[in-house]
Amino acid sequence: MTTVLVLNGPNLNLLGTRKPEVYGRTTLSDVEALCRAEAAELGLTVEFRQSNHEGELVDWIHEFGWEAKAGRCIGAVVNAGAYTHTSVALHDAIEGIELPVIELHISNVHRREPFRHHSYISPVAVGVVVGLGVQGYPLAIRALSQLSRDAG
Ligand code: DQA
Repeated sequence: MTTVLVLNGPNLNLLGTRKPEVYGRTTLSDVEALCRAEAAELGLTVEFRQSNHEGELVDWIHEFGWEAKAGRCIGAVVNAGAYTHTSVALHDAIEGIELPVIELHISNVHRREPFRHHSYISPVAVGVVVGLGVQGYPLAIRALSQLSRDAG
């Protein structure tokens, strides 16, 4: 079965308790369940991962880039958290391995502090989902599925 990777960066393990006025009360395992339900409707399996470590995220992007090249993965939904705004390494990993990525943010980063307005991920993403809350995850999975169907 074909896989979609859902990748979460630093502090997203705290979802549900961290700044609920910004990120809501849904936990990361609730998000995982939302993703699995959406993927099942589309005939996809989900690889759902979270790390607080930049290098581990880079390694996983490479791993699933190879899976995509082998036709076993349609791409990734990536919420890189704060690394969105700092990480040239994540930018280079996505660009280098050519993994189709939809960048995702739960909050509307453009309504927040100026340091959240720049993304190193956007220039190498096929699309961006911002500010729709956790419902953005299943929407992004659906979009990746449609884009992969259109491409192939
Ligand atoms: C976030 C927005 C980032 O600016 C922040 O550092 C996060 C979460 C979001 O999902 O809204 O950790 O990516």
